[in-house]
Amino acid sequence: ELEGLNAHFQERIDAEEKIEPKDWMPEKYRKNLIRQISQHAHSEVIGMQPEGNWITRAPTLHRKAVLLAKVQDEAGHGLYLYSSAETMGITREELIESLHDGSAKYAQIFNYPTLSWADMGAIGWLVDGAAIVNQVSLQRTSYGPYARSMVRICKEESFHQRQGYHILMTLMEGSTEQKAMAQDAVNRFWWPSLMMFGPHDADSAHSAQSMKWKVKRQTNDELRQKFVDQSVEQAEAIGLTLPDPDLVWNEERGHFDFGEIDWAEFDRVVSGSGHCNRERVAHHRRAHDEGSWVRDAICAYEEKKRSREVA
Ligand code: ACO
Repeated sequence: ELEGLNAHFQERIDAEEKIEPKDWMPEKYRKNLIRQISQHAHSEVIGMQPEGNWITRAPTLHRKAVLLAKVQDEAGHGLYLYSSAETMGITREELIESLHDGSAKYAQIFNYPTLSWADMGAIGWLVDGAAIVNQVSLQRTSYGPYARSMVRICKEESFHQRQGYHILMTLMEGSTEQKAMAQDAVNRFWWPSLMMFGPHDADSAHSAQSMKWKVKRQTNDELRQKFVDQSVEQAEAIGLTLPDPDLVWNEERGHFDFGEIDWAEFDRVVSGSGHCNRERVAHHRRAHDEGSWVRDAICAYEEKKRSREVA
């Protein structure tokens, strides 16, 4: 019987039907999606910290308002994604617990420190830029609630990317020091942004199955290549150099070739030894604990309302 159900499920996937929360699905599909969606959610929420670090130091009121809105958007993205994961039968508490105990990952990029204002530019342009390339592809993912959450997220992310690019553009029109600051930020964030797409396809544990189930619509390497190709022109347009001597147009492939990623660094940062891993999780834990009274108050209020309705 299970074989028949699995075959029917794959037929639905092959026919491009969306899978909805109450539909039958293989247990491994459910587990894989809870893993990916929850890690995606954690990334959005943890991703608020490196930029939150600069809200009080933004150079103008305008930049401050924009950055504040952007960081709030990331919180919203986290909430849609947690809700989307919850439709698969896991609770918010369990998801947060996995973040705190280290069993769930989040994007390695957020374990790098933000050292200057130009980092806000580099994060918007490169980190959100990489996220968009990935998320545009995920708009066509097979799980309905996840696909739909990507649509709104992508609209907001493209605003985020432009605000980052605009910060860098402004700095590149400024003094020698400002130009150097922008270049330094790009030098530090370029390679970690390429790592965001995950290991090479051949080393990617989940890719083959995720492609078959159309959870992923393009592979890690395909998306990374797309990101490299689009970034080269954007860098040139404002006079930034991408820190890779092997970056060169390959006429035959119709793509840019680029240098090898430092996978040892990737592993180190993913497994907890990046600059800020401990700080990021500790900060989240503290904020979560300090907010417990709000959750308690909401529950008490709901309880009271329910008991009144009964009476
Ligand atoms: N940072 C941390 N861990 C990563 C990263 C990364 N950049 N890339 C891959 N990994 C982890 C995977 O989570 C997996 O570990 P796990 O089995 O413990 O979960 C392992 O490395 C092997 O990688 P893959 O088999 O390639 O994993 P997967 O098929 O899930 O592909 C990818 C990784 C591309 C990140 C995928 O999960 C995805 O598309 N996720 C949604 C997008 C997302 O999470 N974006 C967050 C950053 S963008 C933002 O928040 C602004």
